[in-house]
Amino acid sequence: MPRLLENNRLGGQKLQRIVYTEEDIRRRIQEMGAEISSAYHAADRLLLVGLLKGSFLFVADLVRAIDLPLQVDFLVAASYGAGKKSTGDVRLLYDPEASLRDRAVILVEDIVDSGATLNRLIPRLEARSPASLEICALLHKRLVTLDREPRWVGFDAPNEFLVGYGLDYAEDFRHLPYIASL
Ligand code: PRP
Repeated sequence: MPRLLENNRLGGQKLQRIVYTEEDIRRRIQEMGAEISSAYHAADRLLLVGLLKGSFLFVADLVRAIDLPLQVDFLVAASYGAGKKSTGDVRLLYDPEASLRDRAVILVEDIVDSGATLNRLIPRLEARSPASLEICALLHKRLVTLDREPRWVGFDAPNEFLVGYGLDYAEDFRHLPYIASL
């Protein structure tokens, strides 16, 4: 029985099933790290920009799987509030301090759901003249076609409400080492 899932209950909430195990996630991130490592050169001055809060564990594991010099920064955006549906109102709460100009930038996102977050943020980042701008998403529900699709996707995810490994429901469950449906 995976940690914290005795009787499928956690803090009064019932988790339906584990969708990606800790091992599934670990193995896939190693593959993605290798792909990213072979797509760039040291001279590209790679900058990974993690979209918080959801991507905090993904960024931490992904950067350790990339075998290139790189730097890390974060953006904080939020749209879901305490509900299960995106409000569509993407608020930027913190903006990266690092300059993006002439650098190879990868925006790291935990999940693409309605696509509202990426569709709003990509033009804002493009306006800062990076040499290149790609998206790396751990999960993609494939519900919409984005203005710009992620170059790297960990898993095509089922259309269920997913929690764990950074993903929350009303701020709970982010610490789970696996991804489960609620
Ligand atoms: C969630 C998730 C993604 C985004 C995806 O973030 O972490 O960033 O929504 O949904 P979308 O494709 O419908 O825009 P949220 O706004 O809940 O903030 P969080 O990262 O702090 O959980």
